[in-house]
Amino acid sequence: MAEQLAIGGLTKSFGGLDALDAIDLRIARGELVGLIGPNGSGKTTLLNIVSGYYAANGGQVRYEGRAILGLAPHKLARIGIGRSFQVTKVFRRLTLLENMLVSGLADWREGRAAAIDRAMAILDDFKLTHLTHEPAANLSGGQAKLLEFARIMMLSPKLILLDEPFGGVHPELKSFMYDKVRAWNADDVTVILISHDMGSIFGLCRRVVTLSYGNIICDGTPEETRADKAVLEAYLGDQHAA
Ligand SMILES: Nc1ncnc2c1ncn2[C@@H]1O[C@H](COP(=O)(O)OP(=O)(O)OP(=O)(O)O)[C@@H](O)[C@H]1O
Ligand SMILES: [Mg+2]
Repeated sequence: MAEQLAIGGLTKSFGGLDALDAIDLRIARGELVGLIGPNGSGKTTLLNIVSGYYAANGGQVRYEGRAILGLAPHKLARIGIGRSFQVTKVFRRLTLLENMLVSGLADWREGRAAAIDRAMAILDDFKLTHLTHEPAANLSGGQAKLLEFARIMMLSPKLILLDEPFGGVHPELKSFMYDKVRAWNADDVTVILISHDMGSIFGLCRRVVTLSYGNIICDGTPEETRADKAVLEAYLGDQHAA
C-alpha cells in the first residue's frame, strides 16, 4: 500500500499546554482509520493541522509525498483533502445548491453549468434533491451533517477527515452515512474518522488510533484497542462505566 499521509514529530501547544506532543503517524492510501480518545486529547487539533486550519509548532506532515504544513485550507482542499467539522459549518442563509457551489469547493475550471450538474447529482445521491433550493437553515441537524458530506464530494477528495460526523444524527441517517463512508473507502479514498460513538468506530474501522493528552497511546485493530490497558484507563473504561 502506498503511503498517503506521513506525520512526524508533530507538536502543537496552546500557551503552556501541549495539545499534540510529537505525534508520529503514517497512513496508507485507502485506509479507514478511527481516531479516538478523551475530550481534549488532541483529536480535532490533529485534523485542524492536517487540513490547514491550525499552524503547528513543530514537526512535519507529508501528503502524497509533499510537505503540506503551512498550506491554506483551500489549497489543501484542491489537492484532495476534504473535511467535516465537529460543529457543523453550513451557510444557513444559502440554499443547498449554493452551499455546494460557494464553499470554494467547486472546480470552476469545469464551468458553472457543469459544476451545477455535478452538485445536483451529488445532492440526489444524498437524497437531498427535494431541498435543493431551500435555505440550509431549514435542515435538521442530521441533514446539515449530510450536506457537509455532500459538499465534501464536490472536491473528489482522496483523503477525508471527519470530525464527529454522527453526533445527533438519527439512526436511519447514520446507517446511510456509514454506507457513504464505506463507499468512499471502497473507492480507495482514505478516511480518518473521529467519533466518541464506539459503535461507529469499531463497526467501520479496521485500524483505531487512540490519543491521550496529545500522545498516541495505542494504534491497532478494534480488538487490540478494546483490550489495551492504557486505552481502558484513559478512555474506554470511563465510557463503559458511563
Ligand atoms: N484554539 C484553541 N485555543 C486554545 N486551546 C485549544 C484550542 N483548540 C484546542 N485547544 C486545547 O487543546 C487541547 C486539545 O483539544 P482538541 O479540541 O484537539 O481535543 P479533542 O480530542 O478534539 O476533544 P473533544 O473530544 O472534546 O472534541 C484541549 O486542551 C483544548 O482545550
Ligand atoms: Mg474534538
